Amino acid sequence: MSAPTDDPANDARWWRRAVFYQVYPRSFCDTDGDGVGDLDGVTAHLDHLEYLGVEAIWLDPVMVSPMVDHGYDVADPRDVDPLFGGMAALDRLLDAAHARGIRVTMDLVPNHTSSAHPWFSAALAAGPGSAERARYIFRDGRGPGGSEPPNNWPSVFGGPAWTRVTEPDGRPGQWYLHLFDAAQPDLNWDNPEVFEDLEQTLRFWLDRGVDGFRIDVAHGMTKAPGLPDMAVTDTRLLADLDDDPRFNNESVHEVHRFIRRVLDDYPGTVAVGEVWVYDNVQFAAYLRHDELHLGFNFRLVRAEFDAAEIRDAIDNSLAAVALEGATPTWTLSNHDVDREVTRYGGGAVGLARARAMALVMFALPGAVFVYNGAELGLPNVELPDEALQDPVWERSGHTERGRDGCQVPMPWCGDAPPFGFSSSPDTWLPMPPQWAELTVQRQRADPGSMLNFYRRAVAIRRDRAEFADADFGWLETPPDTLGFRRGSLTCLLNAGSRPLPLPAGEVLLASSDVTDGQLPPDAAVWLVAP
Ligand code: NOJ
Repeated sequence: MSAPTDDPANDARWWRRAVFYQVYPRSFCDTDGDGVGDLDGVTAHLDHLEYLGVEAIWLDPVMVSPMVDHGYDVADPRDVDPLFGGMAALDRLLDAAHARGIRVTMDLVPNHTSSAHPWFSAALAAGPGSAERARYIFRDGRGPGGSEPPNNWPSVFGGPAWTRVTEPDGRPGQWYLHLFDAAQPDLNWDNPEVFEDLEQTLRFWLDRGVDGFRIDVAHGMTKAPGLPDMAVTDTRLLADLDDDPRFNNESVHEVHRFIRRVLDDYPGTVAVGEVWVYDNVQFAAYLRHDELHLGFNFRLVRAEFDAAEIRDAIDNSLAAVALEGATPTWTLSNHDVDREVTRYGGGAVGLARARAMALVMFALPGAVFVYNGAELGLPNVELPDEALQDPVWERSGHTERGRDGCQVPMPWCGDAPPFGFSSSPDTWLPMPPQWAELTVQRQRADPGSMLNFYRRAVAIRRDRAEFADADFGWLETPPDTLGFRRGSLTCLLNAGSRPLPLPAGEVLLASSDVTDGQLPPDAAVWLVAP
């Protein structure tokens, strides 16, 4: 078994076993009192990230945006929105994070722009057939007078994926494609100008010292030739199907090769793609040596707290990356899905299971992504209708509540909202008074807290040789439990209802009390052979 290495050649691939921390900037810390988090708030709390022991940050989008989809609608891809403190605040964060040895990766949104992007205004003004329209996907409608959308595609956020425009002469005109909100028109990746502009954007941030990108909708961008109708339009929000003509088309790999060629000019940078593709061979294609370095694999996010499902998710994730000799990635949550404490049942049981699953995740070979607040064991928040801000709520005709419940701001200190998140009581999403128990301040002072448990797990994972390479093997364990081995380390999970007697060995870390030699239900443990 090899120990962590200082070989600079390997260092360029630092991300292979890194713990990334996802910062949702709106919800991290607000330093200017407007109730919305900002980049100086991230800089102010780098001590928290250092305490946790993470190697890198993934920042959700901070570019100039009308914030219809909270920054995933980009109006200027080469500037930071004043809401987040502008470019100077990003430079301060980069300097301060790098001084602590923490790398900073940014979200990049190449599938679409905001409808407030100058390109889109120019496209509307220029009319059908223009070079300006050719940067997006404009089509004539079907039916009498072109009054029906060009095809039957639904938007991922609900409703049709097409919106009709009024032409410069005042008449109803063409339709444009938006796989998400109508304020997020899809770019046309058959147009070389779109590639050129992306290259400018990539180099702009890389030249500023950014360490890489999380690529939004990395399986999107190019669409099936001819934009054919979908066979099945009853897709769940944010859960794409593998045979969906909106996503995962062969030509998308050309975009990834293009991105990779630019990143290769900046050694040590990384691209991690949001790849909602379930077929292993198709998923692995994104991780070929000249495409993405890492691909998010959402199988663990979708697995119930069930030993067989979890094992299957791990097996498939490992098998998929093995096809290309690539690095696995693991995450239990992000800003788009319910928090794991809630998914696993909520309350004390949900929290115990989230602790257990954190141990499973940190024991796996590869890169780990922790969504801000997971380290505090935050649950989702049931927000009142009037507080909801996700465009999904409106676009689904109030049938899908959207993602606000997992994006409630971080509680830092004190006994009442806004818990040090902001000086304003009017935070962009309301914070529940019950989070007084969950603040960073409280949890730092409590050796048994989720925060200190996460911290120990990250430290052990970083320091022990067992975690250094890809070695992994399943162990035979009773039903409703699972076990695997990394060198001399064993990780056991009890997802059943009866205690599991522990084998001999030294307990490195356990998510619950195991002093009686048994692993209780809803718990996990790391053991090393005696
Ligand atoms: C995926 C992002 O994670 C999500 O938050 C966003 O709404 C969509 N892509 C559209 O950009």
